[in-house]
Amino acid sequence: MNALPFEPATGWPEEVAALAARCSFPGPGRPLACAVSGGPDSLALLVLAVAAGCRVTAIHVDHGLRPGSAAEADVVAVAAARLGAEFRGEQVAIADGPNLEARARRARFAVMPDDVATGHTMDDQAETVLCNLLRGAGLDGLGGMSPGVRHPLLGLRRSETASVCRSMGLEPVRDPSNDDPRHLRNRVRNELLPLCEQIARRDPVPVLARQADLLRDEASFLGVLASEAVPDPTDARALRDAPLALARRAVRGWLTPADGRTDRHPPSAAEVARVLDVASGGSVAAQIAGGRRVRRSASRLAIEGESDKVPPVKTERAASPVPSWVPAEVGEPVVTAEALSARVAELGAAITADYATEAPLLVGVLKGAMIFMSDLARAIDLPVDVDFMAVSSYGSATRTSGVVRIVKDLDADLAGRHVLVVEDIIDSGLTLNYLRRYLQARRPASLEVCALLVKEGEQRVPLDLRYVGFKIPSEFVVGYGLDVDERYRNLRSVHLYRPDPRRS
Ligand code: IMP
Ligand code: MG
Repeated sequence: MNALPFEPATGWPEEVAALAARCSFPGPGRPLACAVSGGPDSLALLVLAVAAGCRVTAIHVDHGLRPGSAAEADVVAVAAARLGAEFRGEQVAIADGPNLEARARRARFAVMPDDVATGHTMDDQAETVLCNLLRGAGLDGLGGMSPGVRHPLLGLRRSETASVCRSMGLEPVRDPSNDDPRHLRNRVRNELLPLCEQIARRDPVPVLARQADLLRDEASFLGVLASEAVPDPTDARALRDAPLALARRAVRGWLTPADGRTDRHPPSAAEVARVLDVASGGSVAAQIAGGRRVRRSASRLAIEGESDKVPPVKTERAASPVPSWVPAEVGEPVVTAEALSARVAELGAAITADYATEAPLLVGVLKGAMIFMSDLARAIDLPVDVDFMAVSSYGSATRTSGVVRIVKDLDADLAGRHVLVVEDIIDSGLTLNYLRRYLQARRPASLEVCALLVKEGEQRVPLDLRYVGFKIPSEFVVGYGLDVDERYRNLRSVHLYRPDPRRS
């Protein structure tokens, strides 16, 4: 009589059936992949999807970030079996570091189908709207999540998902990271929303969710207008002539990855403004995220060059001449001033994208990194804090011994900070290795390294460098902050240094 894959002998509890009817599931008998962490919202999603008659596969992703995370997979597997749903367990590996939540989310979605349903409720929608508002999002962000098969529970409250679990006798997993005040969303949930309720004397959640609905409609209408005003966003004239709001939207649409690449943020307002400046003739080219540039030529805009990779050092004769005051020991540039400035801009853009939600503390290592640090800091389009430490390594003039002395310590407290060490050059890697252990002991939230130069084949210890400017041949170099006996730091390029054997 019943075509549904599962129905409890006693029928669904009345409440469950009523709530399922308020969700936006695909029709009965249709397949539906559900992302189920084991928390109350996602367990309710699983129950309600089955109750709505979908052919459900529950997908659990184990991030391996918490002890006992494998046991959470079992909670989901058991619930799925009880409900007659399929179960699929996935595992992903995520390294500790900055933007952990965002990276975990990306890794999670990478192993799930694009149209996977999540258990976001109206309460999540309200939080999303407020988080996006605080992050400076535009209309699209303020529109929150769109209802539909990917977010079938947006019409339900969190109290209702909890009650679904209770009436089905399911014991949800408690995720302790939901209480961690370092995550913006948790503070919005636990502090900001209750405060809004107290001040407005009404439940702010439905108000915010309704505003999101209205704003989404307006955003989509503006989208239509923008595609009419600027049918081709590479057309610099059309961009220049369109009303600013529509031109911005056209550029945003152009720069937003259409291939579902979730490793890239939507373009920032500053990026969009830079591109519009190129379109209107204020500049010829502009840096955008992912080490790319937008360039104008003959009234056309084009995106140039993905460079996730470390560029090889060009061996061709450099454009920048060797200044007349340097002696013969200072040879040809190994990395020219032009290559340095282009690469620093790319590193800055990559750091801007990676630390978008968590301003980093840049720790420069004196003295060598001083010039790199000051250029890099200006290439980062975020609020950053800056501190320095000075170390000196015992050893000969051109070789480190690995014994490091702290000459100047940091002023900043590292606890809970996202620290990015800015280094001039890695040779043996011993200095960095020492520094890393020293800084790690001060319990930063994350610790990453941005090294301008790495000498090939010299490292005696494993290095984990998140950002590298250039790999260079293993020769002694000077310039752009690097010295020999305190000299040549002010050269604009990085040059080979070969002491004259007749003089030593
Ligand atoms: P490491 O400990 O062998 O990796 O040496 C790193 C430090 O040695 C750098 O921070 C520099 O201060 C210095 N160093 C290494 N190679 C060079 C070079 O080619 N020119 C100038 N300084 C260098
Ligand atoms: Mg040095």
